[in-house]
Amino acid sequence: MSAEIVYLNGQYLDRAQASLSVDERGVHFADGVYEVVRYFNGQAFTLNEHLDRLKRSLDGIDLIFDADTIAGISDELVQRNDLTDARVYWQVTRGSGLRNHVIADGLTPTVYLSAEEAKPLGAAPPLPTTSVITTLDDRWHNCWIKSLMLLPNSLAKTKAAKAGAGEALFIRDGRVTEGASTNAFAVFDGELYTHPADRYILEGITRNVIIELAKSQGIPMHEQAFTSADLPSADELFITGTGTLLTAITALDGNMIQDGHPGAITNELWDAFVQRVQADCGAG
Ligand code: PDD
Repeated sequence: MSAEIVYLNGQYLDRAQASLSVDERGVHFADGVYEVVRYFNGQAFTLNEHLDRLKRSLDGIDLIFDADTIAGISDELVQRNDLTDARVYWQVTRGSGLRNHVIADGLTPTVYLSAEEAKPLGAAPPLPTTSVITTLDDRWHNCWIKSLMLLPNSLAKTKAAKAGAGEALFIRDGRVTEGASTNAFAVFDGELYTHPADRYILEGITRNVIIELAKSQGIPMHEQAFTSADLPSADELFITGTGTLLTAITALDGNMIQDGHPGAITNELWDAFVQRVQADCGAG
């Protein structure tokens, strides 16, 4: 359930009181960028990484805004909503101006934040699992920007939901790029693979934490794409993201993977991830 108080352009308001202009460029052109940050035990996890990515996304669309101001607003919003475990949504759009493809000078960015309660991690949380489908990656070529232009992602996720699955894996030119709102990993012969952080994926913050943990656990790690043809022979598959954390894939396009039991490397990384959250945020 969403918490009641949101932040909009300098004010903390009841959700029902917050409204945007009909001339908002975020509505007409998806002209904006966003982040989702997970709070555990009242602490923002990987805050600096989210701020850095927000700055890169803002640069990517030539939107001038002081991203550092968001951290304090985000903490305050979590407190005002009396939350400890939350997903906080940060959105910065170009602002409002009469609909024109050419971006006018001097627009004032619209800044919107909302906080949604999340389940506390707990001391020994079970590894989450899901099933996935594969679908064509027909997005633009700047997926590294965390853009509001999420219609292809939303359509893919809806296709997955209609098939009874929790995520859709995008396939571009035969390669698995990422999920609709997650990054994708596969284990082949004891080695871990994920798509390189180029323009065809969002460089997930959870992805990067998992890569770092895999390296420190001595798991051979390759930022190298695998193909949809490789998928049936994967020993383990999982997805990562701020919402999903690390979630094992137990079925792919209706076929069970490894009898539906998450593999050893996925389990090992989940334990390491939980320890990392506990160390950083004192959660559990
Ligand atoms: N989505 N790839 C895509 C396309 C995403 O939208 C996301 C995150 C990720 C994972 O990134 P991170 O680990 O930094 O959350 C990968 C957010 C959670 C969302 O849209 O709600």
